[in-house]
Amino acid sequence: MRTQVGIIGAGPAGLMLSHLLHQEGIESVVLETRSRAYVESRVRAGVLEHDTAELLRDTGVGERMTREGLVHTGVELRFEGITRRIDLSGLTNGRRITVYGQQEVVKDLIAARLAAGGQILFDVSEVTLEGIDTDAPVIRFAHEGTIRELSCLVIAGCDGFHGVSRGSVPKGALRIFDHTYPFSWLGILARATPSAHELIYAHHERGFALHSMRSTEVTRLYLQVPPHTELSDWPAARIWDELHTRLATEDGFTLTEGPILEQGVTPMRGFVTEPMRHGRLFLAGDAAHIVPPTGAKGLNLAVADVRFLAEALGTWLRQGRETGLDEYSARCLRRVWRVQHFSSWMTGLLHQPVDADEFSHRLQVAQLEYVTTSTAAATTLAENYVGLPLDWSRRR
Ligand code: APR
Ligand code: PHB
Repeated sequence: MRTQVGIIGAGPAGLMLSHLLHQEGIESVVLETRSRAYVESRVRAGVLEHDTAELLRDTGVGERMTREGLVHTGVELRFEGITRRIDLSGLTNGRRITVYGQQEVVKDLIAARLAAGGQILFDVSEVTLEGIDTDAPVIRFAHEGTIRELSCLVIAGCDGFHGVSRGSVPKGALRIFDHTYPFSWLGILARATPSAHELIYAHHERGFALHSMRSTEVTRLYLQVPPHTELSDWPAARIWDELHTRLATEDGFTLTEGPILEQGVTPMRGFVTEPMRHGRLFLAGDAAHIVPPTGAKGLNLAVADVRFLAEALGTWLRQGRETGLDEYSARCLRRVWRVQHFSSWMTGLLHQPVDADEFSHRLQVAQLEYVTTSTAAATTLAENYVGLPLDWSRRR
């Protein structure tokens, strides 16, 4: 097999890249270890930045998102039993966020690629990368019982944090920045009407809690828990009790319960690979970086990477100019570190630190008071939350 761009991974990064390349007239093949059903049902993130939603619309894959996604113009911060709203749109010239599950984005992109004759091979195994230092890289893999080879001009490593791409780069060629946060999130998806119209980020002395949603019938909720928390220690009644306590307000907030459809515990880490390129291999999305989920940025960062990559590949393959490819890593990393900082800042603002004492508590409350009353401080949160414009990272 032969193609222009060999894409490893059919998550949001790999699929969006394939879709954008198609629009530039560039051929690609996507290889995915999981089944189509698995990637279409895996529950992950759910908040689209303003420009992520616009990109889906502008490139013809936003129809269902426009119909079913929930547009939000603000988020709520809750602390000391009170709720304060951050007017995201009012503070950012009308920019907003769209609540739409990552697996829905994945479904829409797969449908669009297949409808356009795109090739996605699911259920592949034994994926290895060869010749990334040469100008004729090859991806070797097993599919339907045979070993196959995909020859390409470049390889896009979009295979997430646990993929093979990053590990294919020779030792010493990448610098890794890795930070483990001392807490995890226990997340549930419940068949319950959301208890508020907007997301609620709650600071509480027992730990952070988040009220989010997927639709008008499905609520997504999270609790800060210690690392290595076992789900078996958290029967449904304990989860709901803790959510009621952490989300409570002075004026009597009511959290609607419902059957739990999904649950899981996710550790929190910050991770960055530098550079995001080695020879003809370009890393994008979770394969290159992980941010803690507090800023809702993982999916959006993956999409920003592949926008840069598609543009750079377009300039190279259509005009023969390599400058975009040469700038790819630095351009992505400026945004990655900005988002890494924002996610870390949101995490620190809202989570109970391991060495929590009355002093650290007062500092957090002081900062929450400031962020929710000063226009300057609220604007900082708002512009990062709705997402900085793509060309922000072009500015030096
Ligand atoms: N070969 C082919 N595919 C692979 C391999 C491999 N060796 N290893 C992993 N994959 C696949 C995974 O099964 C997955 O479908 O690569 C895909 C990577 O997708 P994601 O993990 O969703 O990563 P990405 O596309 O970068 O999207 C980032 O995902 O984890 C969330 O919060 C994160 O929202 C962010 C988004
Ligand atoms: C989610 O709905 O899954 C979600 C929302 C906001 C976050 C993280 C996750 O910050």
